[in-house]
Amino acid sequence: MIISGKELSARLKAEMAEEVKGFPAKYGRVPHLVVVLVGDNPASVSYVTGKAKASAEVGIRNTTIRRPESISEAELLELIASLNADAEVDGILVQLPLPKHIDEDKVIAAIDKSKDVDGFHPLNVAALWQKQPCTLPCTPKGIIKMLKAAGVEIAGKRAVVIGRSNIVGLPVSKLLLDENATVTMAHSRTRNLAEVTRGAEILVVAIGRPKFITADMVSEGTVVIDVGVNRDPETGKLCGDVDFAAIEPKASVITPVPGGVGPMTICCLMENTIECFKRRF
Ligand code: GUN
Repeated sequence: MIISGKELSARLKAEMAEEVKGFPAKYGRVPHLVVVLVGDNPASVSYVTGKAKASAEVGIRNTTIRRPESISEAELLELIASLNADAEVDGILVQLPLPKHIDEDKVIAAIDKSKDVDGFHPLNVAALWQKQPCTLPCTPKGIIKMLKAAGVEIAGKRAVVIGRSNIVGLPVSKLLLDENATVTMAHSRTRNLAEVTRGAEILVVAIGRPKFITADMVSEGTVVIDVGVNRDPETGKLCGDVDFAAIEPKASVITPVPGGVGPMTICCLMENTIECFKRRF
């Protein structure tokens, strides 16, 4: 079975749009998401465009603020302070990565925790790891939603997560653990990686290397979640971290690239924006 993140997210966005329609009467306005884009990295521009498009579909007000690559850290922090103070801003997202001369951690920590729609603020991260209420990071949240929508039983399963980033690997491992999976966190320094991945009943791959996971690394019946967004060096087309064509026949459930995890990430961003908005009233 191929899980279409595109279809699931379309359904969820339609439900959110229905709810948001009632907001002007109930709250006097609609949620407002501000996305800050520094520089013109093509992938970042494309992601930010996707976020604006989804906002329009759901009825969320979206402002994209573009700043040149040359912006100083102090200027960016000043911008964030003004957005924190703006009562008409409910969600703030600073598109990553930032230019090398800017300290990403400092920028993330400067965002008001209650407007942190990415769930990247240290206080949100701490709350996640202490199982307290928090804004969940969008990609991990979307992955769990996809697994549940596909009817995958997570409890008791051997889950292997490849990649240990703050954005995906670490938080998705924690969410899988909270769903009672037995989680192995593998990465570039893992020895005998194929042996580890062959033991997975649920395999989440977020390493950013095109078609890194080959058919021999996956057992029959595995649930495969591909978080990768890469260019295939041979065809120039978008591809995941998983060799989809080779693994799809072996997997019980698999997500495609594009149209898998990506749309679910944006869908969860919409959900997080609505949550942050509601908490303000
Ligand atoms: N860059 C890649 N993924 C993300 C994300 O989920 N949020 C932000 N802010 N930047 C990203």
